[in-house]
Amino acid sequence: EKAGFDHFMLKEIHEQPKAYRDTMGARLDESGKKVALSEVGMTPEQIRAIRQVHIVACGTAYHAGLVGKSVIEKLARIPVETDVASEYRYRAPIITPETLVIVVSQSGETADTLAALREAKRCGARVLAITNVVGSSVAREADDVIVTWAGPEIAVASTKAYTSQLIAFYLLGLYLAQTLGTVDEAYIAEVVAGLQELPEKVESILAQADTIKAIAEQVSTHDNLFFIGRGLDYAVALEGSLKLKEISYIHSEAYAAGELKHGTLALIEEGIPVIALATQDDLFEKTVSNIKEVKARGAHVFGIHAEGDAELAKVVDHTFAIPATLPLLTPALSVVPLQLLAYYASLARGNDVDKPRNLAKSVTVE
Ligand code: M6R
Repeated sequence: EKAGFDHFMLKEIHEQPKAYRDTMGARLDESGKKVALSEVGMTPEQIRAIRQVHIVACGTAYHAGLVGKSVIEKLARIPVETDVASEYRYRAPIITPETLVIVVSQSGETADTLAALREAKRCGARVLAITNVVGSSVAREADDVIVTWAGPEIAVASTKAYTSQLIAFYLLGLYLAQTLGTVDEAYIAEVVAGLQELPEKVESILAQADTIKAIAEQVSTHDNLFFIGRGLDYAVALEGSLKLKEISYIHSEAYAAGELKHGTLALIEEGIPVIALATQDDLFEKTVSNIKEVKARGAHVFGIHAEGDAELAKVVDHTFAIPATLPLLTPALSVVPLQLLAYYASLARGNDVDKPRNLAKSVTVE
């Protein structure tokens, strides 16, 4: 049932190219230049009436929602807030009938996410669910459902569900933008073409798993480390850090690179590993100056950058290149080495990769 892989997590990491293809599937229309989301029942008038979007989820799905915020704001120019469900439901959020609430849940059964959905409906908002389980509670109670076709995810650590959620956000962002006319058709076609190339690009990252394994073995001897990045790289850093904590039990923190000198830099000492993501062109120089700050204090820096960019190698100790793509789409690639990092670090520490201590796959209690 693990199809020759040692663990479900590794199998699911390798299933991502297929999960991307299946989630995009028929939703990219035949011309290859537009998105068709027949499962979203909102009329163009209803879409035009949306004043704000709230994205609500837990854990990894929340991290997908952070990427979703950037995607929807950039493409559809609607203000978006992303919140963890256990906070959202108790903070008297301002939900109006002009609010679109997007709940994200792999299982569709997470108690806090379901409660947030119910609260949103009670306030008269339309609720759109992004879920991997057809017929789950979240799917049944939402007004619109975008199913991620990742297939069953068995490992507690979420991998292919997260990346399929990213694909769902790209499709939704494009769909809203098409309806609202917020970006020109040429850019939509460029993003669609970029999406279609992602599965192959993920395959090329997976083919370099041994490089990541070697880095993971070094990292696994440490008790503390940092992930840093800006913008979308920061959102991915949060996911990389959660994945590592969850299965390797190594403490790590993800930091928005520009925030380091507001306190956290005090923790940087000789030899501490720092995973630095620097894939976003417009933020590259700024991230590099933050990398220099940690290097100057003795950090051992592993840098992740886009292929073809030779600059990062000059300032970090090791680099890993992800295939070049549009900056907006990089999270769907840059998270893959971080998933492998967590996997191999957990393995090196002799942990039960698929069933980490204290955790359940589906959190159906508050
Ligand atoms: O089923 P859900 O997507 O609602 O689950 C949410 C979280 O419990 C889940 O993503 C959790 O954070 C993962 N174990 C992380 O790998």
